[in-house]
Amino acid sequence: MSRIRKAVFPVAGMGTRFLPATKSVPKEMLPLIDRPLIQYAVDEARAAGIEEFIFVSAAGKGALEDYFDTAAALEMTLKAKGKTDALAALEPSHMREGALTILRQGRALGLGHAVRQAKYLIGDDPFAVLLPDDVIKGPIGALSQMVEAHRNVGGHMVATMDVPRAATSSYGVLNVKRRQGRVFHARGMVEKPRPDIAPSTQAVVGRYILQPSIFARLADLGPGVGGELQLTDAINADLSNASVTGYEFAGERFDCGSIQGFVQATAAFALDRVDLGKDFAAFMETRKLPEQMTA
Ligand code: UTP
Repeated sequence: MSRIRKAVFPVAGMGTRFLPATKSVPKEMLPLIDRPLIQYAVDEARAAGIEEFIFVSAAGKGALEDYFDTAAALEMTLKAKGKTDALAALEPSHMREGALTILRQGRALGLGHAVRQAKYLIGDDPFAVLLPDDVIKGPIGALSQMVEAHRNVGGHMVATMDVPRAATSSYGVLNVKRRQGRVFHARGMVEKPRPDIAPSTQAVVGRYILQPSIFARLADLGPGVGGELQLTDAINADLSNASVTGYEFAGERFDCGSIQGFVQATAAFALDRVDLGKDFAAFMETRKLPEQMTA
């Protein structure tokens, strides 16, 4: 089976849930502790063996594009001042020459439409898609786990997690045929089903391994749930070409596309940092909910 070397990062969304911050700062550049969200997704992809990074971007996202560029003046100043720690901190934001391609989505017509933009860059091998809003914390990157499992099952693979039934209407949900350890062989997926009709509680989160056959399906895709071109619909439409499996990754997922998820991720990552954890935990011990909110 061919290696998964390319990954698409859809970063063209408007991030309206973080307005006014996202009026001038791309959502993917909001810092989780001291690194922007996009850095976590890029690190996870690198750990999984990804060598080519394709950002599907949009107007107004210049800061995101600059972040992975060389900062010659800054680096020279840091070098001259002997600030080696600060220089080392920049390392993860360096891209190997030619490894990053930035496309423009033009209009934010949905995730399916965003992925479709990468058609001419993908070629004949399966590729990964990572949504930087979904930050997954754990000793082994979620995409690394999926790449390993994908060697055995092939086809299209989506990352899944078990959610409470009441929450199914916030996710794409797998229609499960058969379970094999962490792998769920599926008949397809349903986008945002009501809890009473959801086919399972395996919810799709933002990591995918897709076969290039998806592009033919994306090409003639009509609007789905919410009027958007849904990646889920294209995967379902491609079932005659490629199987679909869910992979229930080990790790904790934070929805950093929502304010609550972002705040929780900040707390979880801060507690785990040797330089921050103890003081932060002690600080939280001193905090109480305002009285009017406990009633
Ligand atoms: P969201 O559904 O979170 O949308 O997109 P959003 O616009 O980023 O944020 P809100 O809802 O307005 O706050 C999920 C992921 O898909 C990308 C986003 O950038 C994000 O990574 N996306 C979504 C696109 O790249 N293009 C689209 O047309 C839609």
